[in-house]
Amino acid sequence: PKAMTLTRPLVLVGMMGAGKTAIGGAVARKLNVNFLDSDEELVRAADRSIAEIFDRDGEAFFRARETEVISRLLDGKPAVLSTGGGAFLSETNRALIDDKAVSVWLKADLPLLWSRVRHKTTRPLLRTDDPLATLTEIYEARTPIYAQAQLNVEARAEYSIDDMADQVIAT
Ligand code: S3P
Repeated sequence: PKAMTLTRPLVLVGMMGAGKTAIGGAVARKLNVNFLDSDEELVRAADRSIAEIFDRDGEAFFRARETEVISRLLDGKPAVLSTGGGAFLSETNRALIDDKAVSVWLKADLPLLWSRVRHKTTRPLLRTDDPLATLTEIYEARTPIYAQAQLNVEARAEYSIDDMADQVIAT
């Protein structure tokens, strides 16, 4: 890929399982900038897992901390930032990201997302009696919101992380 300097942070948004963390890390390496992940920052600050934060403090608490973390990460020098799947739903967060960064929706279809999250137990929102139905509902409700991102890149099972990272950079 061509050499490129980031003038604004690059923020990856999209569903859980889309690959935001893996692809964000690869994009950052290729661009030679820092990689930040809002979920990881939250876990580090709270010294608890995302599931534990949800359980002990509630989702509202998590969302408030998430906004603080995103706001802080966007004020640093331009980096690649991966957000949790729910981050872009907040109008406050969208405005922040729009104001300071370039948003990229990592767009994946439901079967791919499900194949990636079905055996994981780390996502508190999917701890329901029927996680596929829950994922489907979340997917349908969020798709129009993610579509407000400035750019979008399609994730597919057959694309490698490296290819995806090149696509994000090319876009
Ligand atoms: C969430 C996605 C998770 C994490 C939390 C809530 C969501 O991040 O922030 O479990 O609302 O979709 P990933 O998208 O990295 O799984």
